Amino acid sequence: MIAILNVSKIYKLDGVEVRAVNKINLTIKEKEFIAIMGPSGSGKSTLMHLIGALDTPTSGSVMIDGKDIGKMNDEELAFLRNQTIGFVFQQFNLLPKTTSIDNVILPLLYGSTPSSLRKSLAQQMLVKVDLSNRLCHLPSQLSGGQQQRVAIARAMVTNPKIILADEPTGNLDSKSSVEIMKLFKQLNKEGKTIILITHELTIAKFAKRIVHIKDGEIIKNNNDYR
Ligand SMILES: Nc1ncnc2c1ncn2[C@@H]1O[C@H](COP(=O)(O)OP(=O)(O)OP(=O)(O)O)[C@@H](O)[C@H]1O
Ligand SMILES: [Mg+2]
Repeated sequence: MIAILNVSKIYKLDGVEVRAVNKINLTIKEKEFIAIMGPSGSGKSTLMHLIGALDTPTSGSVMIDGKDIGKMNDEELAFLRNQTIGFVFQQFNLLPKTTSIDNVILPLLYGSTPSSLRKSLAQQMLVKVDLSNRLCHLPSQLSGGQQQRVAIARAMVTNPKIILADEPTGNLDSKSSVEIMKLFKQLNKEGKTIILITHELTIAKFAKRIVHIKDGEIIKNNNDYR
């Protein structure tokens, strides 16, 4: 479903080149749960941004469902980011003055969901992440783990096929981290393709496959399908 073909991302700053991602080839099948592991600066976030069409590669291509995202027009890209992929970040990225339910409703405002349905859909998602009793709380009134669950509900509300999570447990204690990982595991069981970035092996082990990257290159790809 996702094919990363000879993808490189080179940043140029003051005449100095950084090969953040260096000729990576990787295929990810539908319903996989894959962890991308590597030390700080190894290119994990860069790779995730390329997969999620948040950034464009210097060379190579990223194919999703047989379509080269580098060749998509703005409308197709907006649809991809809103409907096909759900993003979860280390910093949660919730709107601070907005309740849980309204944070989860946000992605629906860009789609075609009738307004009468938005609230109930968002509520269903918050029930799913076990926050039925925190619908009207602000992010500052929630624990880190709860905020991340709101963020996951928000990522899921458009029913995307793919979830991209960049260090989703990076700001959480170990107990909340395990809760979040169990949630991802359940979502994967329900059919979501999950791509998780982490530098912690205990977290990566929740995935079915671990890809190790270093200096922008894949150095180990357990359970490689190719
Ligand atoms: N916008 C940018 N301009 C220049 N260099 C960048 C830019 N973004 C990232 N880099 C460089 O690219 C390399 C890869 O960065 P990236 O953020 O992908 O690493 P990472 O594996 O996610 O690290 P971390 O675990 O610390 O989040 C780093 O050396 C970084 O300094
Ligand atoms: Mg990163």
